[in-house]
Amino acid sequence: MLIDKIEAIKAQLAELRADNEEALEALRIKYLSKKGEITALFNDFREVAPEQKKELGMKLNELKTMATERINALRESCKEQAKEENKIDITRPGAPQALGTRHPISVVRKQIIDIFSRLGFTLADGPEVEDDWHVFSALNFAAVHPARDMQDTFFIEKNDADVTRNIVLRSHTSSVQVRTMDHQKPPIRIICPGRVYRNEAITARAHCFFHQIEGLYIDKNVSFADLKQVLLYFAKELFGPDTKIRLRPSYFPFTEPSAEMDVSCMLCGGKGCGFCKHTGWVEILGCGMVDPNVLEASGIDSSVYSGYAFGLGIERITNLKYMVKDLRMFSENDVRFLDEFQAAH
Ligand code: DAH
Repeated sequence: MLIDKIEAIKAQLAELRADNEEALEALRIKYLSKKGEITALFNDFREVAPEQKKELGMKLNELKTMATERINALRESCKEQAKEENKIDITRPGAPQALGTRHPISVVRKQIIDIFSRLGFTLADGPEVEDDWHVFSALNFAAVHPARDMQDTFFIEKNDADVTRNIVLRSHTSSVQVRTMDHQKPPIRIICPGRVYRNEAITARAHCFFHQIEGLYIDKNVSFADLKQVLLYFAKELFGPDTKIRLRPSYFPFTEPSAEMDVSCMLCGGKGCGFCKHTGWVEILGCGMVDPNVLEASGIDSSVYSGYAFGLGIERITNLKYMVKDLRMFSENDVRFLDEFQAAH
């Protein structure tokens, strides 16, 4: 019976739900399209007996209006809901931004600078592209010294006839000693952090560039004991108060006497372990009393002044402090490696 069908659809209308445009369109097609259920009832209506036509016609029109209104109402609430979802909630916490980290070399460089600053050392600087005089000659390297050799040094310009006119990438920061003495009279107390270059194949243990910190102190009556005391303080500050140091005789052209310094192994405390090759010691720097020839080359009277110098590799110290096995990691900028230094500031 048509009246039953009208009532059945009416009951359904109250229950209709749709939360997006697609679902709404499906409902419109189901009830109101050409092949829709309500449209079909209008076909049935043609069969209705004439005396019922008035009443049923009214009811049918009513149903169509109801269905249209219901679907329109659902459309409105859909729009409201979408608006609600797009609203900006200013109380929500922001999306976290990944924080950058300082490079391990920068972290350690700063630690070292801080320690020497407390001892009155100031920062000095010099160029990475240098002349032979500042890198070698003024530092008492003989003209035939192997460090000048092509194997070690990157030459920008090479003039075999006149070695002093050669331009190189500095192979150590000791050149800044000379730069500083060029324009400063004693007392001089400086450290110079900087990048240096050597013509080496890149492996886990060697690189064609790395970083050093050079130290220089020149004054009246500076002695080897002063050097030893400063280096002991430095080692304890950097590696912990129980650290011991040991100086072994060595040779550098620019210092006399020269020494290499070991610190007690930071892993086993000096007992001997795989890391320190069971010696209890690891080497960390070179040092010595500034050779009088170096003072004289820079116009400082070596009968009045004396001084000490030291030089260390920042990568080397970083390896010892943070157990980095492969030098290449410092220049590859792999964020997974760099992220590990998040807390090392
Ligand atoms: N310049 C040396 C090098 O690159 C390191 C060094 C050793 C610096 C002894 C010094 C020093 O000032 O006294 O291997």
